[in-house]
Amino acid sequence: MEKNKKIVIANWKMQLSPAEASLQAKNFKKLYNKAGLEKKVEVAIAPDFLSYLEVAKVFAGSNIFLAAQNGYSETKGAFTGEISLATLKETGCTYVLIGHSERRQFFAETDESINNKISFALQQDLIPVLCIGETFADRKDGRKDVVVMQQVQNALRGIDIKPSQTLIIAYEPVWAIGSGQAMQPAELKHTAMIIRQSLIDVLEDKDLPLVKIIYGGSVNSENISSFTDLDIISGALIGGASLEAEKFIDLIKQI
Ligand code: 13P
Repeated sequence: MEKNKKIVIANWKMQLSPAEASLQAKNFKKLYNKAGLEKKVEVAIAPDFLSYLEVAKVFAGSNIFLAAQNGYSETKGAFTGEISLATLKETGCTYVLIGHSERRQFFAETDESINNKISFALQQDLIPVLCIGETFADRKDGRKDVVVMQQVQNALRGIDIKPSQTLIIAYEPVWAIGSGQAMQPAELKHTAMIIRQSLIDVLEDKDLPLVKIIYGGSVNSENISSFTDLDIISGALIGGASLEAEKFIDLIKQI
């Protein structure tokens, strides 16, 4: 992945049926190619797992990357309901979201399981997209910076990452997700600097990999450039505004 290229990742969550996902993927591919945006912005799409192989077929041989919303940190075994990160790699996946706040909140994802997943994803040469972010309560308690620092450090402690590998940190304040209320760019810049420092601290004396910090939480075509114009922000993780191909392309064009 290129150092200075911005990246936009669409998280389709559990919002589209396989037929809808396939249609949106096909529409998006047409519009993306026509717009000639690939030199400026890399795009990855994370469909749900039932749509995943169909969407993979649509994007095969194109310049649109495939991402997964989750994955498990073992190659094979008796893990009912899980999908291995190794299998994802085999089926053309490039990026994997790890520790999304919805997984932490609704599926009891812990710092320990997140750390295992990051480690295993890197072993498979997948690019982990570590998702972090404080809740509204953390913020009201004045704990935002501490929570973010701890999430970075717990996710990455002891991780073996090569300088040639890439790590993406998606900072998504939980209160900003799906609320229509995005973070202000000035505060984002401050928080991104804390994230970067926490990362340098936890990776200690290791040579740093390529790290990209991206923002997520109520990003739309009106506000995206206020985030991606910041030098420290390399792109965005988009939920609601990525579900319709035409609207998603309009958003990407604003970067
Ligand atoms: P929204 O863009 O809908 O706020 O969702 C953000 C998100 O959770 C992406 O992972």
